[in-house]
Amino acid sequence: MQAFRASILDFIDDPASAPEHCLRYFEDGLLLIDQGLVSACGDYASLKSTLAEDVEIVDYSGRLIMPGFIDAHLHYAQTDIIASHGSQLLDWLERYTFPEERRFSDAAHAQQTAGFFIQELLRNGTTTALVFATVHTQSVDAIFAAAAEQNMRLISGKVMMDRHAPDFLCDTAQSSYDDSLALIQKWHHHQRLLYAVTPRFAPTSSPEQLSMAQLLLNQFPDLYLQSHVAEHPGEVEWVKSLFPWSRSYLDVYDHFGLLGDRSLYAHCIHLDDADRQRLAVSGTAVAFCPSSNLFLGSGLFDMQAMLQQPVNITIGTDVGAGTSFSLLKTLNDGYKVCQLGGYNLSPLQAFYLLTLGAARALYLDRKLGNFELGKEADFVVLDLHSTPLMRRRMAHAQDLADQLFVLMLLGDERNIAATYIMGNCCYRADAAPC
Ligand code: GUN
Ligand code: ZN
Repeated sequence: MQAFRASILDFIDDPASAPEHCLRYFEDGLLLIDQGLVSACGDYASLKSTLAEDVEIVDYSGRLIMPGFIDAHLHYAQTDIIASHGSQLLDWLERYTFPEERRFSDAAHAQQTAGFFIQELLRNGTTTALVFATVHTQSVDAIFAAAAEQNMRLISGKVMMDRHAPDFLCDTAQSSYDDSLALIQKWHHHQRLLYAVTPRFAPTSSPEQLSMAQLLLNQFPDLYLQSHVAEHPGEVEWVKSLFPWSRSYLDVYDHFGLLGDRSLYAHCIHLDDADRQRLAVSGTAVAFCPSSNLFLGSGLFDMQAMLQQPVNITIGTDVGAGTSFSLLKTLNDGYKVCQLGGYNLSPLQAFYLLTLGAARALYLDRKLGNFELGKEADFVVLDLHSTPLMRRRMAHAQDLADQLFVLMLLGDERNIAATYIMGNCCYRADAAPC
């Protein structure tokens, strides 16, 4: 049994649909964990008497505990090309991304990068992520092994790409199927890991390969699927010429049976209402990646139109086109993108999207996303006063929502005091032993 005393916040519903009953906040709270799972969460005053005398209380008074953040879209193999000065999407892929991903044929390089990447997630309070590996099977082994070492719930998969890319990054429809199948058998449900079938995007997959992706999903009904859609106008035009029969870019994936529960598409910018309706009806999730979209000049995600359907929304850093591993900094960009689109993103909605909202969109909410009894105890300890400016601004924060707004506009990895995976401390900012 473990006990943590702090202010505690989690979401129990969507602020957009249940504004009055969406969260629990205990200013002086206690979080109890038994064998990695939440056993209680409530007021310190009422829970402390239930504790056996020998249970040591870890005192984080003055800090805020929240469920661990969920990064729904990023590329571990692009860690070393973050902040590379390029042009827009297609040029950036050719100039930086493809040459960099080539290096992941080397298992030692993949392992070294994966280890750094997992540490960087933890340093930023991210406890679950949907991660693109590369086309190489050894890159998938590396990221899953590094996540397993921390017992993280991480979703990843081998990139499938059999055309319109350099030869050194191309597989074939058949080899992508065979390799993915072997990796599914090796990693899906190993510890907390889950596998995502990962066609890179429609331009780099032949129709045969997209059919193979569908075959895998049909064979293993609880697999994930991750890809990109409608990120950049040049990419959308390209897809139109490659799949002239399609009604839209999203329709290409729909045609191959790749929408549905546990499918997640990054970007989703250049869509129409019919596309958004298909996303909603099919249960498909979208990843809003504002840092990346601003960096590559891709366009403005229409949050309001997505919420109207409603579509299942998550947030992704999209490293390395995104320029930070911090989901707090990503919310900062997201807030401003929404402002430009005429939608005012509330801080409650924003932190819901990083936690329970993402867990629901990924159909993981029975396992994690808040501190309900029995859930996996992944959490982050936040220091809301990590810089002189934040201390000054927080001193006159009016309420919890105001504090959270300051956190998402001024926050970054300096606010992450510690990160816990199933009750185990995996990162501490003060470098004290966990
Ligand atoms: N579309 C296809 N591949 C990629 C990628 O690696 N990054 C981004 N941002 N978009 C993509
Ligand atoms: Zn991406």
